[in-house]
Amino acid sequence: MNVHVTALANTPLLDDSNAAFAEDVASGLSQHPKQLPPKYFYDEAGSKLFEQITLLPEYYPTRTELRILRDRGADIAAAIPEGAALVEFGAGATTKVRLMLHQCSFDAYVPVDISGDFLNAQAEGLRNDFPDLAVYPVIADFTKPFALPPEVKDMPKVGFFPGSTIGNFDPHEACAFLKSARDILGNGATMIIGVDLEKDERVLHDAYNDAAGVTAQFNSNVLVRINRDLGGNFDLPNFVHRAIYNRERHRIEMHLIAKKAQTVRVLGNSYAFRAGESIHTESSYKYSLDRLAALARGAGWKRQSSWTDPDRMFSVHALVVGA
Ligand code: AVI
Repeated sequence: MNVHVTALANTPLLDDSNAAFAEDVASGLSQHPKQLPPKYFYDEAGSKLFEQITLLPEYYPTRTELRILRDRGADIAAAIPEGAALVEFGAGATTKVRLMLHQCSFDAYVPVDISGDFLNAQAEGLRNDFPDLAVYPVIADFTKPFALPPEVKDMPKVGFFPGSTIGNFDPHEACAFLKSARDILGNGATMIIGVDLEKDERVLHDAYNDAAGVTAQFNSNVLVRINRDLGGNFDLPNFVHRAIYNRERHRIEMHLIAKKAQTVRVLGNSYAFRAGESIHTESSYKYSLDRLAALARGAGWKRQSSWTDPDRMFSVHALVVGA
């Protein structure tokens, strides 16, 4: 545990789930430049804000991926073995997985997520709507090794990682995730993965700086959470949302920029901000088809097929294990 946090870990404010948050905040705000991990956006309020983002006119990824999954459903089904187990890494809205389940013939569905309550509610809904499907939820951090349920041991495995969540990993983390998924799914596995594509910077800029300000609210939700769960005293109007495209690194970066010099206290530590200083809260990497294939290759996957929308905004890939 970070030294800044050790002394405070036993205060009533910090339960187990907040201890890791406290540690990541203490270490992220002590770095230069300051940063916070994007996974902390997603408390209840943040998850609702993200759902709102997916409906914004400027935010093309969700609706474009859905369109690819729908329009290319027959091709995707052809890339998948009969009677397979579909293993979804992370469980969000069920719209995409429902499309997959309708279009392909799976015998089992294994959603994997850290939030047990959410997972079980989602599993219940799917059991009702797909009575012939065996649903085996696994409560686990999908970025770390976990065991598949023994019931799916002898079925072919198909990983599912939609939404360009891979884009929120730095390239070395993306490679580590794909390697770990390969080890979990095993030889002969297939992976269906959704990946956002490089495109006109203005389109990207607008998608992450929407006119209604929902993305700004989503971004600053991490400060709301620090104030609430860690007793921080961030003054929200003193920070402004900014999303910029970093061309060299092929990524949108989300920042929270201090409007003026100020000092913020979190769990007994003080963090000084200069006017204009940023907290880097998220990167969203954009890939070309070739760079995605190279990333997959480095992690032991071979790209079998890729599908895009007619405007080449987003891509869905079938990867198979093998160099
Ligand atoms: C979840 N993830 C793929 C989203 C993205 O586009 O990187 C998160 C997001 N951040 C701002 N808007 C949406």
